[in-house]
Amino acid sequence: MTTSESKLRVAAIGDLHVMEDSVAPYRELFAEISANADVLVLCGDLTNFGKTSEAEILAEDIRACSIPVIGVLGNHDYECDQPDEVRAILHEAGMTVLDEQAIEIGGVGFAGVKGFLGGFGRGELAPFGEPLVKAVVGEAMNEARKLENGLRSLRTTRSVAVLHYSPTEQTLEGEPFAIYQYLGSARLADAIDRFDHVKAVVHGHAHHGKYQGATPRGTPVYNVAQFVLQPLFGKPYVVLEI
Ligand SMILES: [Fe+2]
Ligand SMILES: [Fe+2]
Repeated sequence: MTTSESKLRVAAIGDLHVMEDSVAPYRELFAEISANADVLVLCGDLTNFGKTSEAEILAEDIRACSIPVIGVLGNHDYECDQPDEVRAILHEAGMTVLDEQAIEIGGVGFAGVKGFLGGFGRGELAPFGEPLVKAVVGEAMNEARKLENGLRSLRTTRSVAVLHYSPTEQTLEGEPFAIYQYLGSARLADAIDRFDHVKAVVHGHAHHGKYQGATPRGTPVYNVAQFVLQPLFGKPYVVLEI
């Protein structure tokens, strides 16, 4: 049993990339996770192409999960230009798709957004020049704003920020440096670092990145893309005690 004083076991996995020819691809894994954790967090790229047929397959496995399932969409879930349909199918199966609204489970708050690209430090794209460049930066700012609002609404002393894109370049190590700016945005870390209650950040997207890093203020960041976790832990998910 979990109280506000005891630790919550948070299982996290990103980049499921469910395809339409998959047969119950996560049924067994979700059963294992249900036995070992209190909540399951999915960090985007839930489907491979954002097809409703792919979402329906994952939805069936989510229905078989006996612990709360929460998470965010990833860029792949937008590929067919129907993220609302994908979100609705997953919601119908019982998953809470975080996006601006935050929730509390077992005394721990969860706020999340997909996030967006934009880069870090000297490589950060600035809102200057052509309208399309400003629009790209505007989207990154908007995702950071939604995350900040979600985190601000929480009244818990412990919380987890759930993302698809990375808030730091530290967990991108292993990826080609030339694509860092497409893998995350420092603006997400700016939002996270405004709050003392964020105890961990989980993200995916960087399949070849590094497991562990931190925001500039020192909040732990975990890249939970399954392709990062599998070789490291021998299983495609991690359980964090929050
Ligand atoms: Fe991915
Ligand atoms: Fe991705």
